[in-house]
Amino acid sequence: MTKKTINLTVNGRMRAAFVAPRMLLSDFIRHELELPGTHVGCEHGVCGSCNVIVDGKAVRSCLMFAVQADGSEITTVEGYSTEGGLHPIQQAFWEEHGLQCGFCTPGMLAAAKELLEANPDPSDEDIREAISGNLCRCTGYEFIINAIRSAAKAMRDADIKNTLQPV
Ligand code: FES
Ligand code: FES
Repeated sequence: MTKKTINLTVNGRMRAAFVAPRMLLSDFIRHELELPGTHVGCEHGVCGSCNVIVDGKAVRSCLMFAVQADGSEITTVEGYSTEGGLHPIQQAFWEEHGLQCGFCTPGMLAAAKELLEANPDPSDEDIREAISGNLCRCTGYEFIINAIRSAAKAMRDADIKNTLQPV
């Protein structure tokens, strides 16, 4: 199949690429852009470990083709931290022990980011709902909920409106 040129912004940087129409966005991010923080746990849209932020929404990158992201703005887990250190959501996962093996974590962070931008003061029920599409086989979820609750408070205290800064 004929390859197509795409242009997109990834973690604040303009990127251009020449990709086959069938290439998944997840494979494109991992193998072409060499950003392996985005994980692939099922390739069926079930586990959520491939979630990245596309134009402000957490989306399954395994269910999108790279060509569909042409013109989009994408943030992967590699784009969360700043020169000042970890993003408050990352810091909270660290402090509250919201990860063990870490495989689900980039997708969890994307789900948390989307939630906290829309709802800075979520209830535990809101948090459970927001991560209900993200599977974790290690933590039992409670520490993840604690982490997101703690991140929400830290961000409210710091009055962080835009939760992601390009590196
Ligand atoms: S790898 Fe995309 S949802 Fe599991
Ligand atoms: S920390 Fe291992 S799958 Fe979530």
